[in-house]
Amino acid sequence: MFLTAKEERILDGEEGYARQLAMKIVVKLGDIFSADKLIPITAAHISGASYKTIGDAPIAFLEDLVKNGARATVKATLNPIGFDLHDYKNWSLSQTVIEKQKYIIHLYEKLSIEPILSCTPYVLENFHLSLGDHIAFSESSACVYTNSVIGARTNREGGPSALASAIIGKTANYGLHITEMRQPKLLVEVENPPKEYAEFGMLGTYVGRLARDNIPIFQGIRNATNNQLKYLGAGLASTGMVAMFHMLGITPEAKEIDVKEYSEKITVSQDELNNELNKLSTTDNVPDLIFIGCPHCSLQEIQEIAAYLQNKKVRDDLKLWVCTSQEIKKSAQQEIKTIENSGAKVICDTCIVVAYLEQLGIKTMMTSSAKAANYTPHFCDIDSVMNTVQGCLETATTKLKDI
Ligand code: F3S
Repeated sequence: MFLTAKEERILDGEEGYARQLAMKIVVKLGDIFSADKLIPITAAHISGASYKTIGDAPIAFLEDLVKNGARATVKATLNPIGFDLHDYKNWSLSQTVIEKQKYIIHLYEKLSIEPILSCTPYVLENFHLSLGDHIAFSESSACVYTNSVIGARTNREGGPSALASAIIGKTANYGLHITEMRQPKLLVEVENPPKEYAEFGMLGTYVGRLARDNIPIFQGIRNATNNQLKYLGAGLASTGMVAMFHMLGITPEAKEIDVKEYSEKITVSQDELNNELNKLSTTDNVPDLIFIGCPHCSLQEIQEIAAYLQNKKVRDDLKLWVCTSQEIKKSAQQEIKTIENSGAKVICDTCIVVAYLEQLGIKTMMTSSAKAANYTPHFCDIDSVMNTVQGCLETATTKLKDI
């Protein structure tokens, strides 16, 4: 791979050990994937921040970087952690967990990584991405969204490689950074266009399983909101290695479909989506937690949930959690009050998959997120029940004897 004289100097350690280490990681990846050169990035988003999922292993690595003066040189943000930093007193967490988690955030802050603790950096006020921007994102749902809806360019990075790219401000030029590699290979004909967020998510988990690492192009969906597309992308990335989709009128690069160009084609009927709902539901048990917000809720979703919960009460035999970022929570104070007055909780900084759920004694979760339903049985050892947002909210607010 070609390196400029300055890049060679960084690799030789002339700008210190930390930048040398970051450069080594990026160059190694470039060599593995036959990249021709490094390219500048405008932003990075780093996953691997929850102490529950990463444990102690990366702490020494982060300490080493901090000690040696590493700093992000581009806008860089951090994914959710293991608990809500502002509201964890009733979570029965050990002092060790609390301290280690806070220490991990402290280390990332020292590296100039902003602790937004959200998986949807692209909706935040001061995070600007444009068509054609090269970025390094390691949150899979955010990769799909930024590639497919915004037209920015990122591979599905790992946490360490996104961090290394943030430090040197560059990534290796391979995969989805290259125009030809962003072309769709799999034609997906959707017979009944999904409407609800949950249906978009389930279309994603269904197609993700079949697409593997191919880029699907959807036929049959003419309109979709950014929220719906967010759920589609999260679903796709959770069952497959998908990092991008094409949709006409949505994806900046999408072209009119010529079916002859596609050797691989699948058709998704309503039956497939109904089966997906059953597949993502691992039990018929009554849930003890209802969870909305994977990926984190946008302002519009918070408004929709608040409108539903106005003058309603959450059953006292279960919890209703709505997950979002601190920034969205601050910008929707009236709606948050309405949601919390119903007895629901608005949780920030964390999510169902990376949170310390086990400590709360949760056995069964109902969710409107296909990604969360797909992950929680494996990551958290709890059963999942898939439902629409409306179904989740109705279940949360209907007395058991009325069901
Ligand atoms: Fe976000 Fe957690 Fe879902 S990081 S995409 S809410 S698994």
